[in-house]
Amino acid sequence: MSNFVCDPYSRELDSDPFPIYKRLRDEYPCYWSEPGDCWMLTRYADVTNAARNWEVFSSASGNMLDDIPERTGVTLGTTDPPRHDHMRSLIQFAFGRQQNEYLVEPTREIANKAIDKALEAGHLEFISDYSSPVTIGALSYLLGIPQDQSETLRAHVVQILQTDPETRKKTQASMDSFQWLKEYTGSLLAARREKPTDDLLTYILQAEIDGKKMQELEVQMTSLTLIMAGVESASSFMAMLALNLADHPDAQRRLVNDPQLMPQVMEESLRYNTSAQRFRRTASRDFELHGETIRAGDKVMNCYGAANRDERQFPDPDTYDIDRRPKQHLGMGTGKHVCIGAPFARMLVRTAMSAFHERIPEYHRVADQLDWIPSTTFRSPVALDLELP
Ligand code: HEM
Repeated sequence: MSNFVCDPYSRELDSDPFPIYKRLRDEYPCYWSEPGDCWMLTRYADVTNAARNWEVFSSASGNMLDDIPERTGVTLGTTDPPRHDHMRSLIQFAFGRQQNEYLVEPTREIANKAIDKALEAGHLEFISDYSSPVTIGALSYLLGIPQDQSETLRAHVVQILQTDPETRKKTQASMDSFQWLKEYTGSLLAARREKPTDDLLTYILQAEIDGKKMQELEVQMTSLTLIMAGVESASSFMAMLALNLADHPDAQRRLVNDPQLMPQVMEESLRYNTSAQRFRRTASRDFELHGETIRAGDKVMNCYGAANRDERQFPDPDTYDIDRRPKQHLGMGTGKHVCIGAPFARMLVRTAMSAFHERIPEYHRVADQLDWIPSTTFRSPVALDLELP
């Protein structure tokens, strides 16, 4: 009898999930985690099926293992069709009114200011000095949030998404930050109601299909989710991409010399090391898989990051290969809940990393060991110090 145990709250899974994922895929493809009180799916075919089969794998009780109850059933990520379809069409419509190309110049400007500062200082902690301020700056343009709020916003979002690995619960600080963000979003929306402007929050407020708008609470919680998802996923993803390039100097050199490679570097990084590793579903009915029975009401962790390393789908999956062009990766999910911020995120990362490489064409990481954020969903180093030659 094996004594293998996988705990989704463990620091081991935060810091190096890939050997654990491999064991799960090979030996326990439908794994009941006692400490996590959830099933874990890791094979590409199973994860894809669960992400697409919303009738069985519901998001309506939350899409994070330790989701905040106030979010469930009222946001884009935490509803099922038909409510989700309606909300998604409205948000998609609002996103469609905002051309990403308008955001390229402001993003470059914010990026260059951050690079000026780093070069002056002579060192760079990539997350707090670059990926985070640039992401929040660009997201603030998209949503119409004042630029001077970026540090405060980041601090609250980082706090909300983390889980205490000891208690397996959100901390009081985390809940306080959630309340702060809820009130802040409410005040932004109230200002847009009074004085509409050309930004995504105004468009979300105005969006209407067949004479139907979103309910007040849905607008507030979905706007809050856009801020939370945007700040954490995009900034962490940029950090993962920089980390991959720091660890693969050949790929770094090739990209710096040929910026046209950026789209394929981005897609391979989303496959190899997505910042959005694991999302939760809840079974709506009993479901048989690999000889196990997932019971109605059971929580299921759908491990996108593990599916992306499945050799049944991607040959030689642990090799970071920028020539791979992995079209079918799950780094941004799939099915009804596939990332709605993906075009914005791709614009942001492409623009910010191109600006970075123009001014900093070579970089290495300082520490061999990294500390990773405690999260059942996201993967990111706490800090990424880079040495600039
Ligand atoms: C590279 C950065 C990003 C990554 C890796 C990422 C990843 C993901 C993934 C995997 C999902 C699916 C969640 C699930 O299956 O439950 C998702 C959904 C979502 N993402 Fe992103 N995301 C990124 C950037 C963004 C940005 C910048 C925004 C906002 C501007 C955003 C907003 C959302 C929202 C609202 C959803 C829920 C969509 C729905 O349920 O219909 N994301 N994202």
